[in-house]
Amino acid sequence: MSASQSQAPLYQALKNHAKIEAANFHIPGHRQGQGLPEELLLLDGQALFKLDLTEIPGLDDLHTPQGVIARAQEMAARACGAAQSFFLVNGSTIGIHALLMAVGERGKVLLPRNAHRSALGGLILSGADPVYVMPEIISDFGLAAGVLPEQIHLAIETNPGIRAVLTVRPNYYGVADDLAGQAVLVHAQGRPVLVDEAHGAHLRYHRGLPEDAMSCGADAAVQSTHKLGGSLTQSSLLHLGGSRLNAEVVAGALSLLQTTSPSYILMASLDLARRQLALSGADLLERTLTLASKTRERLARIKGLKVLSKADLVGFDLDLTKIVINVTGLGLTGYQVSDLLFRRYNVYIEMAEANNIVAFLSLGATPEDCDALVKALEDIARRERRTHPVKFPEVPFNIKKRMKPRDAWFAASQRVSLAEARGRICAETVAVYPPGIPVLCPGEEINPEVYDYLALISKHTLPCQGASDKSLKTIKVVIE
Ligand SMILES: Cc1ncc(COP(=O)(O)O)c(C=O)c1O
Repeated sequence: MSASQSQAPLYQALKNHAKIEAANFHIPGHRQGQGLPEELLLLDGQALFKLDLTEIPGLDDLHTPQGVIARAQEMAARACGAAQSFFLVNGSTIGIHALLMAVGERGKVLLPRNAHRSALGGLILSGADPVYVMPEIISDFGLAAGVLPEQIHLAIETNPGIRAVLTVRPNYYGVADDLAGQAVLVHAQGRPVLVDEAHGAHLRYHRGLPEDAMSCGADAAVQSTHKLGGSLTQSSLLHLGGSRLNAEVVAGALSLLQTTSPSYILMASLDLARRQLALSGADLLERTLTLASKTRERLARIKGLKVLSKADLVGFDLDLTKIVINVTGLGLTGYQVSDLLFRRYNVYIEMAEANNIVAFLSLGATPEDCDALVKALEDIARRERRTHPVKFPEVPFNIKKRMKPRDAWFAASQRVSLAEARGRICAETVAVYPPGIPVLCPGEEINPEVYDYLALISKHTLPCQGASDKSLKTIKVVIE
């Protein structure tokens, strides 16, 4: 055995990070225990390992629940206003895959162009044919807001045969579109509305937050309870409402996709997080919203920063526990600010992009953390002001789909230079941040407009995601 086997680099990195007195504004929402249900927080060492069990008598089976898991799922459904709920142990990703498999088999699905990559995974697994709607952009922040009901209406009218509509609500920035309005339109066509509510596990528990998907009439919603609901990472919930989806088909898809060894610790954390939200969610969120409001006010007073507020949105609501801060007024990029925040001040935020940084407050947010964030940004604004505002080109939305994502995914592909890729079918996704809206998805043609945009991105080395060559000097295309 080589000497290097004595190391455990991931474990060591986690141990090192745990020693830092950090102010955390990222998921998981429990913030290293600060927002965990007390029973979980008090479990230590041996007590925790004693819960790491499997399908022994008395502990039920996630794949055919009839006992305690069935009861816990029923209680989650009742708390969340659903007809039926399922525990997920591989994040919301698996729930979105299962929903698309349940509705999609080779049918058309309407979805926003900036849907999370788990939606693309679902399209590939199911073979569904995507019809994209371009989200509205909030130009001051360069970020995608959401989709308007009239856009859904138009897309349904002009694309006959749509089987289901998938929406993302609220989005990463906390912006929530008019889901109730969308649901009325989609239901009028007898079609189900599926909601990626990964960022909305907490919405139902406080009136000051946008309404949750089940209350808006969704047929299905997938929530990352681990993100903002206080459970452990990877634990999520899938809720069904109404009768437009066949619950047995959804359960079958989940059984196909989820592990046969689900973690009882994750499932117990879902059970406890549901109880915490149902019993004291309103109080905890009231505290979080008050803290967020004070923090927003202090941040808005810092010269060079602009904080996203409801006043910036028309036709959309906002989850005020998420703080989106435009930093272009400092002449810095969001990446630079994020870098300074953690290197110099031990402040860790959820996300940075060219124009903005995003800080999540959640059940575990503390006044000390918020104070650290404000003071760090005040200091950065004082010391670092520069004069290089970043300008990003607009994403072209002239899609020429030549293959379905699934067919492009399974097709033979090759890597070619960007110039050689003109007119070819892309075999991967390319999205530039901001606004993170893909310019290409698998199966789409690299048309002249898209080529020009990609060449510009490559020339200025702007940050892009999805592409296997981030410099965009080469790109994967289908061999025709
Ligand atoms: C909008 C959105 N949907 C879905 C997901 C997937 O959720 P999970 O990480 O729980 O699988 C994410 C994760 O970041 C997300 O941001």
